[in-house]
Amino acid sequence: MLYSAKVMDHFMNPRNVGIMEDADGVGQVGSARCGDTMKIYLKIQDGIITRATFETFGCGTAIASSSMATVLITGKPLSQALALTNQAVAEALDGLPEQKLHCSVLAEQAVRAAVRDYYDRSHIPYDPADFPV
Ligand code: FES
Ligand code: FES
Repeated sequence: MLYSAKVMDHFMNPRNVGIMEDADGVGQVGSARCGDTMKIYLKIQDGIITRATFETFGCGTAIASSSMATVLITGKPLSQALALTNQAVAEALDGLPEQKLHCSVLAEQAVRAAVRDYYDRSHIPYDPADFPV
């Protein structure tokens, strides 16, 4: 079986799907490799992510990765969201096939872009080095 049961679960029943109208930070990224796009919305209170949703136009693994990423960062401080790696997303999904790892990279990047957007909107200074593209 190419995909783990967790990948299939998060693909068939994605968590936290949808646009968040009152988001405090929104991050959108696209994969140059496949053209898929992922958007993550964050609601933030006192440095904690209280809600995270996503819209992904992409493959099943991209959908599963964004679903898992929103689950992993909900209730967590921003510092932890920034530290979320694509490996952590892939591990939480019980692994991804090698050629599908780039889909989880989108999730890492979209989360980071959303945090950066929040910092920008709130005029919170940050080190650009913390936000590699
Ligand atoms: Fe487009 Fe991933 S290549 S769905
Ligand atoms: Fe490109 Fe999955 S194939 S994000």
